[in-house]
Amino acid sequence: MPPRIPLPLLNPSRRAAVTCEYRCGNACSHEAPNPSANEYLGDIVTSVISRRGALKTGAVVAFGVAGLSGSAAAQERGGTTPGLNFERVQPNTLDAVVVPKGYEQAVVIRWGDPVLPCAPKFDFDNQTAAAQAKQFGYNCDFAALLPAHGGNQLLVTNHEYTSENFMFKGYKSDSPTEEQVKIGWAAHGLSVVEVEQVRGSGRLKPVIGRCNRRITMTTPFKITGPAAGSDLLKTSVDPTGTVALGTLNNCAGGVTPWGTILSGEENFNQYWANAGQTAEPVKSRAARYGITAGATSRKWERFDKRFDMLQEPNEVNRFGYVIELDPHDPESTPVKHTALGRFKHECANIRVARDGRVVAYSGDDERFEYLYKFVSKNKMRKGNSKTARRHNITLLDEGTLYVAKFTGDSPPGEIDGTGKLPSDKRFDGSGEWIPLASGNRSFVPGMTAEEVYVFTRLAGDKVGATKMDRPEDVQASPKTGRVYVALSNNVERGVTPGKESATEPNPRNNNKHGQVLELTEHDPLSLRFEWWLFLVCGDPNDPSTYFAGFPKDQVSPISSPDNVAFDQYGNLWISTDSANALGINDGLYGVPVDGPQRGNLKLFLTVPRGAETCGPIVQERLITVCVQHPGEVDGASADKPVSHWPDGGDSQPRPSVVAVWKPGRHGPMKIGS
Ligand code: FEO
Ligand code: CA
Repeated sequence: MPPRIPLPLLNPSRRAAVTCEYRCGNACSHEAPNPSANEYLGDIVTSVISRRGALKTGAVVAFGVAGLSGSAAAQERGGTTPGLNFERVQPNTLDAVVVPKGYEQAVVIRWGDPVLPCAPKFDFDNQTAAAQAKQFGYNCDFAALLPAHGGNQLLVTNHEYTSENFMFKGYKSDSPTEEQVKIGWAAHGLSVVEVEQVRGSGRLKPVIGRCNRRITMTTPFKITGPAAGSDLLKTSVDPTGTVALGTLNNCAGGVTPWGTILSGEENFNQYWANAGQTAEPVKSRAARYGITAGATSRKWERFDKRFDMLQEPNEVNRFGYVIELDPHDPESTPVKHTALGRFKHECANIRVARDGRVVAYSGDDERFEYLYKFVSKNKMRKGNSKTARRHNITLLDEGTLYVAKFTGDSPPGEIDGTGKLPSDKRFDGSGEWIPLASGNRSFVPGMTAEEVYVFTRLAGDKVGATKMDRPEDVQASPKTGRVYVALSNNVERGVTPGKESATEPNPRNNNKHGQVLELTEHDPLSLRFEWWLFLVCGDPNDPSTYFAGFPKDQVSPISSPDNVAFDQYGNLWISTDSANALGINDGLYGVPVDGPQRGNLKLFLTVPRGAETCGPIVQERLITVCVQHPGEVDGASADKPVSHWPDGGDSQPRPSVVAVWKPGRHGPMKIGS
């Protein structure tokens, strides 16, 4: 039996306060903005018990060995899992990207590297907005690799947020200069960069290709879908309510089957000032999104009135959407899809139903927020013709938006908030998708369809959606169709007075480490589902953790699951944000979701001190991750860097994309082979 994986003896802490300030506007230090009294459906357990038997029978058939008990799994352990045969990385706190023995790594592109022709060489001490607009942006998060001409690929990345304290020496947060603010605008958004694979290696070399592009805070977006043109979206600059400038806080995303990129505008609230001084209903609607009184951290409102809610109360209503970008067409106008609702979208990932309709899942990443699903009205056209692409890019504009309501199948009294398994030995149950709006029709009493799309959180409150522990990335397995939801953490659950206590899908109070939920639908269009908790994360020595029943002395510790991806074999890959809750660096993990190794979580790589692992892409012979905010720990800054990754010496840390591969005699070998 392999030895138990030790954890370094460090003082466990939560995410660095400085990351909270810049990334999510201190969301965690404010009380979560969901004040609704909607109840968790597990409380209505008696009405469910009568149909529980039938549901469980179906579930066993659907899951096959997924329901294997811990002891059965233990008997069968020791086998190998295609794609996951690597020597697991030990948890650590190094200022390095650490990969398994026998693997190699190289930076693909770093903050400030050229994206557009004539981009000036990065000069940390003399950065300008004009340079930044042609260079790779800050804090890369989601990433995708799409086929391009001649065997090259297009690397598309989100730039979620800026950390001015780490971008400028001597930065004064009370009085940023106009140039610093404009650098911030140019460092947000997305990058499209063509990359060429170096022969015989996994290295990816950026090239200045035809499709290279930067999307920034000044790039025009077309607002589409049923709320486009609504009075709620009109501003003094755009009386049509259909053209928004820029995209903000793009966190995770997805690749559509028609070759475009979806990207979620997440913690957009933090960029708007003076909501507390606005009149009703603007003020309370803003409060539901965590938009507060007074100045913002970055003070953008001083340089553009659209960030001042007193002057432009509707500008904020044009952010918080899923955006879609066609990276193959550098002239295309990206769109904001109102039909998928407005909230802190972590992501959007697509599944195609048998009849060709498409389904998009998206989590609202905040404590006590909801999980959503959108089903298109129209069907996807196959093929890659211009006509098909033109049609498919409209699919997310018409359809029905749903929110999830979960029911636990164990008596609520057995969910005691410690993470102790209930008597049926599983955190599990069923659920339903509650319709919110379809086209111009609202299903929410007291709200018009436009209001549902623009103030979607309020709609979720009204229909009694289930409050979750920060719904992050959501993806369906291409092998089984089962859907996986990363739920990061929620330290307010059962702790903050007036906030909900543990429920079966969110079974721990003061939940520091999060869980991964597995959900199965009869088909993607189903309005009912069954669910299980696949992982209850943390230190495996902690009795509250659960690894799908796999023996816990063999698994890697994990905290705060964030992004998920699948490899070609159907293994789930999970990247983390805030593993410092366990005193370790964030990382990327692989785990089988079926077979005797189901739940055997293995740490594949770790990122440097203060960094978060984002945007994993798992190809047959290559893995890439985005290393976001290296060195972002409390007390550090550009004047006092604690990370020197990736350039070493006394260099400033730079958010970057990293490629990892296993070298072989004839080029990269299969990952995990
Ligand atoms: Fe940007 Fe939900 O993490
Ligand atoms: Ca149960």
